[in-house]
Amino acid sequence: MDLKFISTFLCFVLLHSSKTFGDHFTNQSDLETYIVHLEFPDQLFSNSKDLLLWHQSFLPTNSNNSSRILYSYRHVFNGFAATLSSDEVREMEKKPGFVSARPQRIFQLHTTHTPSFLGLHQNVGLWNASNSGKGVLIGILDTGIDPQHPSFNDNGMPNLPLKWKGKCEFNVTTYCNKKLIGARNYVQPDRFPLDLAGHGTHTSSTAGGNFVDDANFFW
Ligand SMILES: *[C@@H]1O[C@H](CO)[C@@H](O)[C@H](O)[C@H]1NC(C)=O
Ligand SMILES: *[C@@H]1O[C@H](CO)[C@@H](O)[C@H](O)[C@H]1NC(C)=O
Ligand SMILES: *[C@@H]1O[C@H](CO)[C@@H](O)[C@H](O)[C@H]1NC(C)=O
Ligand SMILES: *[C@@H]1O[C@H](CO)[C@@H](O)[C@H](O)[C@H]1NC(C)=O
Ligand SMILES: *[C@@H]1O[C@H](CO)[C@@H](O)[C@H](O)[C@H]1NC(C)=O
Repeated sequence: MDLKFISTFLCFVLLHSSKTFGDHFTNQSDLETYIVHLEFPDQLFSNSKDLLLWHQSFLPTNSNNSSRILYSYRHVFNGFAATLSSDEVREMEKKPGFVSARPQRIFQLHTTHTPSFLGLHQNVGLWNASNSGKGVLIGILDTGIDPQHPSFNDNGMPNLPLKWKGKCEFNVTTYCNKKLIGARNYVQPDRFPLDLAGHGTHTSSTAGGNFVDDANFFW
């Protein structure tokens, strides 16, 4: 690199430093994780690399794109998760194709008595009228699942539907049964879909778990 190039580069950085919000000028403690929702593109991207480049174009120039984007989404909706400052989000809002940016939030638990919270009662009303959801396959994207939880015992469950082609990717083959019929880790495919946080076990047992007698919070 000769001297002329270096000085040109420095001028470029100086000229732009007041307008852009690059990594070198962003106070790292202002960064938060956002989920950014974009419009579906007019043209279809033939490969995911082009789509990722389009996602990166929403980031401030000067930032290290590869370290800012945590996930790029393209199946259910178009967008990405990235660490951004609120100033950077305001800049991003001006770009065509932007829909919304929502900061990550941690919610407090509301209840451990979810059926009553939802107004459901055994043997009456909606729960009874729907035959407790008999025959319904439930798919849940969450923090994982604890296959040894008593809610996933398969007492009284019928055989798996023949059309079922799902995977059960635990390291113990008996973890899946006629109640918990499949599980997969989509975040880190080399890891098991076990639940270290408890949330996925809670939501999936709420949606489709078996009845457990004398359950309480500290079972
Ligand atoms: C970064 O932001 C934090 C919190 O807003 C503040 O306490 C800190 O002094 C800032 N650091 C710099 C270098 O501006
Ligand atoms: C980040 O992406 C933008 C837009 O695609 C590009 O102009 C810039 O050079 C990229 N920066 C890095 C460090 O890759
Ligand atoms: C950008 O971030 C990636 C991932 O954190 C890192 O490997 C790479 O060295 C960084 N590049 C620069 C120019 O800082
Ligand atoms: C519960 O459902 C069954 C069958 O769907 C029905 O025959 C019965 O009347 C329902 N019980 C109540 C209390 O609604
Ligand atoms: C399965 O994986 C879990 C988590 O990595 C580990 O704690 C457990 O010992 C493994 N069990 C077997 C039978 O390999």
